Formats: sequence, C-alpha cells, structure tokens
Amino acid sequence: MAITIRLATVDDVQGMQNANLNNLPENYTLKYYLYHILSWPQASFVATTTDPELIEQDIESVSDIKKDTQYVNRGEKIVGYALGKMDDDPESEDKTPHGHVTSLSVMRTYRRMGIADKLMRQCLYSLCENYQAAYVSLHVRKSNRAALHLYRDTLKFEVLSIESKYYQDGEDAYYMKNNLVLDELIPSKFQGAKEEDDLDTDLLEGILVDGVKEVSVSS
Ligand SMILES: CC(C)(COP(=O)(O)OP(=O)(O)OC[C@H]1O[C@@H](n2cnc3c(N)ncnc32)[C@H](O)[C@@H]1OP(=O)(O)O)[C@@H](O)C(=O)NCCC(=O)NCCS
Repeated sequence: MAITIRLATVDDVQGMQNANLNNLPENYTLKYYLYHILSWPQASFVATTTDPELIEQDIESVSDIKKDTQYVNRGEKIVGYALGKMDDDPESEDKTPHGHVTSLSVMRTYRRMGIADKLMRQCLYSLCENYQAAYVSLHVRKSNRAALHLYRDTLKFEVLSIESKYYQDGEDAYYMKNNLVLDELIPSKFQGAKEEDDLDTDLLEGILVDGVKEVSVSS
C-alpha cells in the first residue's frame, strides 16, 4: 500500500475534517480549514492512499464514493493531515514570523507507519521555506503520549510552558516550539533518499553526456 504526502487543497477539506472528527475532540468548521488553505496554500499537507479496487469500479459506484467524505478523488482517500498556518494575530507579542500547527492526525489503521512524522516534516519545511517562519509552535495535551513522543523525541520540539486548563475539558496543554533551520529540514534528508541533492550540480549533466536511454510516459 503506497501512501502519498502532498499539499492540501480546497478539495481536501471534507476529508481532512472527516479525519479530524474521527481522531480528535478538537474539531473545526469547514470554513476554518478553508481559511488555512486559502491564506497559506503551502502550509497544510494530507496523506492519501489509493484504493485500486475503487479505481476499477464503474462510474455508477463513484457517486457512492463521493458521499463518503474520506475520498477526495476516485479511489484516493485521506488517511492523515497536518493543518498549518502562520501566526496572524495582530496582538501577538512576538513579531518574528512564525508558524503554528493547528491540528495533526492519522487514521487509526494507518498509525505507527511514520505518516505523522512525514506530514510534520513537510509542514515545517514548507513554513520555513515559503513563509520564512523562524519557528513553529503547537499545543498538545499532557496525556497525549503518542503526540508527545513525536514532537519532543522525534522532531525535537521543546516544551516552553504548561498552559493550565487549555482544553475545553480542563486538561492542561504543553506549549511547544521548534526553531527552524532550513538546511536541516530539506526533505531529501529524511525521505530515505539514497543520493542527496547538493542543489549545485547540474541535474541534466549525466543525460547530456550519456544521452537519453529510456523515456517512460504515464498517462
Ligand atoms: C499522534 C499521531 C498523529 C501519531 O501518528 P503516527 O503516524 O502514528 O506517528 P508516526 O508513525 O509518524 O510516529 C512518530 C513517532 O512517534 C512514535 N509513536 C507513535 N505512536 C505512538 C504511541 N502510541 N506511543 C508512543 N510512541 C508513539 C513512533 O514510534 C515514532 O517514534 P520514533 O521516531 O522514535 O520511531 C496519531 O497517533 C494520531 O493521529 N493520534 C490522534 C490525534 C492526535 O493526538 N493528534 C495530535 C494532536 S496534538
């Protein structure tokens, strides 16, 4: 089963909301997802998988699929998302450009596969590269062991403070922050790429010397 991590678009908001409703008690209106995606189109990502059986099915059944909010396209379903933004609070004390991860979740059957890690890294990289975010902050429940492990141990966020009764049910939140260094966030460093792109060498060099041997076109 292949998982794709890609930028979220306005077509994905229902699928993202569906994943959020399934995974978290903090829920948002569709308008709030749209606000993120329209204001910062390169700050939110989705993880999707493609169900080959659904692609094979005839057109009639596609209308049923469309009623299921997990699916964005024929056969493509959203299994996780990272909803990111830049801080736009005019009353914010810190005027340094910085990002915020509003929400992150992965559907239960797709957990422990590294999907949240990849969604987060893509989101951090993009906030830094495209919006010049110096750091990214987020809130997490004190009791959320899985998310805490991901943020603190895997992604090296630091706990800045504890916000008492931050959540509606009275639970405290850790307020966490990660200072962003673009070079350390380059996707090829964590995507298991065998060869690292040094960003200087001409990518066409080999082709020009050896000639094009094989071209494949997918329709
Ligand atoms: C938190 C969550 C997003 C993690 O998603 P995931 O795709 O399973 O996470 P990953 O597979 O990328 O794992 C990342 C790291 O966290 C660890 N981890 C994941 N789930 C864990 C768990 N239940 N307990 C302890 N560690 C866990 C992984 O082992 C991995 O650690 P490593 O880098 O040391 O190997 C997912 O559990 C989830 O959607 N939970 C419900 C929603 C939620 O809590 N969102 C966060 C709100 S702040």
